[in-house]
Amino acid sequence: MVRKIGILTSGGDAPGMNAAIRSVTRVALNNGIEVYGIYDGYKGLQENRMIKMQRSSVSEILARGGTMLGSARLPEFKETEIQEQCVENLKKTGIDALVVIGGDGSYRGALALTRLGINCIGLPGTIDNDIPGTDFTIGFDTAMHTCVECVDKLRDTSSSHHRCSIVEVMGNHCGDLALYTAVCCGAEMVITPETGYDELEVLEKLRYLDEAVHKTHAIVIVSEKTTDVQSLAKKISLNTGFSGRATVLGHIQRGGSPTPADRMLASRMGEKAVDLLIEGKGGQCVGIIENQISSMPIEEALERPRISRKKLYRLFDRLM
Ligand code: ADP
Ligand code: F6P
Repeated sequence: MVRKIGILTSGGDAPGMNAAIRSVTRVALNNGIEVYGIYDGYKGLQENRMIKMQRSSVSEILARGGTMLGSARLPEFKETEIQEQCVENLKKTGIDALVVIGGDGSYRGALALTRLGINCIGLPGTIDNDIPGTDFTIGFDTAMHTCVECVDKLRDTSSSHHRCSIVEVMGNHCGDLALYTAVCCGAEMVITPETGYDELEVLEKLRYLDEAVHKTHAIVIVSEKTTDVQSLAKKISLNTGFSGRATVLGHIQRGGSPTPADRMLASRMGEKAVDLLIEGKGGQCVGIIENQISSMPIEEALERPRISRKKLYRLFDRLM
């Protein structure tokens, strides 16, 4: 029977992580399980930095972005020796299970700890929406809201000056944040790892929008790591009737108060994580699939292909 659990946030932070910490803590405490918050992900675990959580420890955090526990990256955690040291630290405090909120890298760490005897449950926390085994990750909806708000503002000024705004959004190697933003903002083009990048095609389309469609502005949403947006903006100014301006939204996308959708998702997923631990399960990750909270082995999730967004790309094209 599980008596003491730990909780940590790992990798890039995401709005809604606090809501997940709150949910896990409150649901566990209400089931008579003690909870320890571990600071700064696996780094804090290695350094044995943790705090016993009370009901009040998670008061006033539901609406706050970031993570009250802090997050970090610890590349050395891939080494078995470091993992064993972490297991030792958990055992010293009597912690028998762990909830890990993070991305697929953090999931791999959770799997390693489970194999060493500590039941771990992974919750998908990242703005990138790039974790297999779930339709949506905690933080994606908030980041999308931020992107949409920013692009709506850029549209105003672009229209006034006959400009083309190239907007770089995050997503790591996943185009979801760019695609969803593009659909919601009525962008003229979207460039993601899934669409690929063809510079001549982009310039030709912009010339067409200017000369044939007489658009007052154009918005191009670009996934980070796809192309250099500053250089694309210069080429647009030189080769089309639009004046190009690049905006990199950057880490602003990671902050802010989580949307109700993210608070709800995090609360539901946190509850599921505790229920799985009570059932004695480990090495599982929680997801939401067709609006149902579910779970699957982490190994299985990591092997799954990412959800195809073909239909949404098609919709984007049909809205042109
Ligand atoms: P994310 O969890 O958002 O994907 P990272 O890929 O940076 O972020 O992973 C977060 C942390 O998870 C890493 O700093 C490392 O401590 C741990 N981690 C990543 N990959 C592995 C792995 N293969 N085995 C064990 N731990 C890992
Ligand atoms: O995984 C979240 C994320 O914000 C990615 O979208 C981005 O590529 C990366 O983290 C940025 O990492 P850092 O915070 O280390 O700059």
